[in-house]
Amino acid sequence: MEYNIKCIGVLTSGGDSPAMNAAIRAIVRAGISNGIRVKGIYRGYTGLIENEIRELTTQDVSGIIQRGGTILKSSRCPAFQTPEGRKQAYDNLVAAEIDALIVIGGDGTFTGARVFAQEFNVPVIGLPGTIDNDLWGTDSTIGYDTSLNTIMECVDKLRDTATSHERVFLVEVMGRDAGFLTLNAAIAAGAEAAIIPERSAIAEQIEEAIGQGKRKTKNSSIVLVQEHAIEGGAQTVAKILSEAHPEYNVRVTILGHLQRGGSPTAQDRILASRMGIAAIQALLEEQRSIMIGMQNDEIVYVPLSKAINIRKDIKSDKWAAMQILSI
Ligand code: F6P
Repeated sequence: MEYNIKCIGVLTSGGDSPAMNAAIRAIVRAGISNGIRVKGIYRGYTGLIENEIRELTTQDVSGIIQRGGTILKSSRCPAFQTPEGRKQAYDNLVAAEIDALIVIGGDGTFTGARVFAQEFNVPVIGLPGTIDNDLWGTDSTIGYDTSLNTIMECVDKLRDTATSHERVFLVEVMGRDAGFLTLNAAIAAGAEAAIIPERSAIAEQIEEAIGQGKRKTKNSSIVLVQEHAIEGGAQTVAKILSEAHPEYNVRVTILGHLQRGGSPTAQDRILASRMGIAAIQALLEEQRSIMIGMQNDEIVYVPLSKAINIRKDIKSDKWAAMQILSI
């Protein structure tokens, strides 16, 4: 495609995350301010294939900054993984006179975007929208802070009943294959332990979790378990724990999709707004196949290939903090 961008398409794809709406709002308003028309593509890549595309005005994005979810709706779209699906998507893009795409989502969204950009020479910019915070090249993803706060508030509530009944609560936390939500929520909520996939010796982590509770001579404890740290998640940990210590009164809470909802925090709204504006700026600078990241409070451009393929590390001082604070 020629680099003369008059009209862009924006979509949200994969698991929704709080402040996706703030990002859409920023893209629409920054686009229009720069003389670029913005078209919303509904239900992620599904809407691109099924031609659910509609122009967005500044009024269309009024009153949405405080709303969780995404006004554009989202989906996971197996059809976009096929050449036929992507060809149909491209034909619809051309028919809608869209010159470039901004995609808001996570790993799967960017993987699809990268292939599409290569196949059809379409400028694509990615915004990191996922509660998992698992994309390399950005300190935080859109929605991560809100989700972290939601988990912390839930654990605070669980602690009341855990203490009253002298129980061990195992709280299962989302995150796909990353432990950022689990570890950071555990620190923030003062949990006794966190079990995450990045620390491979899960059996030892469980032992440690038991030990922490005992050392504290507490009659109750809270352990956060990342959903995929062990097959079966918190239920499996509960089984292991109950067999090893029948005297423990164990309960499991699976927070599930509660973690993805709710009004975004100020931090997420500001992050999403800055990233949305930066995406338009990047297109004006003729960037393509990059993700907008935020590092040390500065906007950065990260190649999509790196954002997807490099594994983001858990900071070792945070893991250490968890151990120190739970003695
Ligand atoms: O990627 C976001 C996420 O919420 C993950 O943390 C979780 O593993 C997954 O999506 C759940 O997906 P779904 O909403 O399709 O059940």
